[in-house]
Amino acid sequence: MNSIVDEIKKLKIEKNAIILAHYYQNSEIQDIADYVGDSYYLSKVGVDSDADVIVFCGVKFMAESAKILSPKKTVLLPNEEALCSMAVMARADEIEKMKKEYPNAKVLCYVNSSTEVKAISDVCCTSSSAMNICRNIQSDEIIFVPDKNLGSYIQEKVPEKRIILWNGFCCIHNNIIPEDVIKVKEEYGENIEVLIHPECTKEVRELGDFVGSTGQIIEYASNSDKKEFIVVTDVGILHELRKRNPTKRFYPLNMVCNNMKITTIGDVYNCLVSLSNEIYIDEGVRIKAENALRKMHELV
Ligand code: 13P
Ligand code: SF4
Repeated sequence: MNSIVDEIKKLKIEKNAIILAHYYQNSEIQDIADYVGDSYYLSKVGVDSDADVIVFCGVKFMAESAKILSPKKTVLLPNEEALCSMAVMARADEIEKMKKEYPNAKVLCYVNSSTEVKAISDVCCTSSSAMNICRNIQSDEIIFVPDKNLGSYIQEKVPEKRIILWNGFCCIHNNIIPEDVIKVKEEYGENIEVLIHPECTKEVRELGDFVGSTGQIIEYASNSDKKEFIVVTDVGILHELRKRNPTKRFYPLNMVCNNMKITTIGDVYNCLVSLSNEIYIDEGVRIKAENALRKMHELV
């Protein structure tokens, strides 16, 4: 009898499908994926592919972005409960109000947001592209939604622009306090490097030897001469870190995005069999959101 992984491989060929997985996914999902990456990489790889079907193993806003950018493709979210809690922290009507308060500002929207919010934004960004886009956007005043922590990080890096922050955050990253990092650092000694995702607070980021997206953290650790690292982001990233760096040691904090872990191999199999859990987006909204996402790819 064929294993479920063999069945998935057969179905992928039959349906001309590819599987994309974010670094926060369970390791068995990352292992069956054709492409694994951070949110910027995954936003490009779907557009560039000639597959008919994209199975997106991540959270809903990521699958929606893939559909926005590739409207002719069938985009499937294997488990429809995979939602990002930050993405619901900004509503389009509230942002419209803020735009009236700052009529000269452009809206820069982190991709961890709804399609409706992307549609009323000027440009989107991911955590790896936010800094460049902020520099390249044609405005000195920027409303940044929804993540106040990533927004404040960009403000530090691009002081020549004025960034107006929204009050959104990621519960998993925002909950970490400096003492959590200091405790692990004390346990393992001074020669360890601390790698931090910019969704963490400023106080936590200040303890980092490196701050970057999941993809940038993996690149940094892989190129570093150091042998030991504290990893201050979701534990799913450890799979790729350890795969690429078998002789290095990585120590996680207790950070688990349950939404990212909800997708199982069974979900992937089921959605491929019946092409179920397809993402649908109103065409009028999609076109506007596509504009903001395409500008992200242009300005990066
Ligand atoms: P990346 O841009 O690093 O993939 O981060 C996405 C995310 O949701 C982090 O919580
Ligand atoms: Fe959203 Fe936070 Fe999970 Fe990233 S880690 S997908 S921001 S809830």
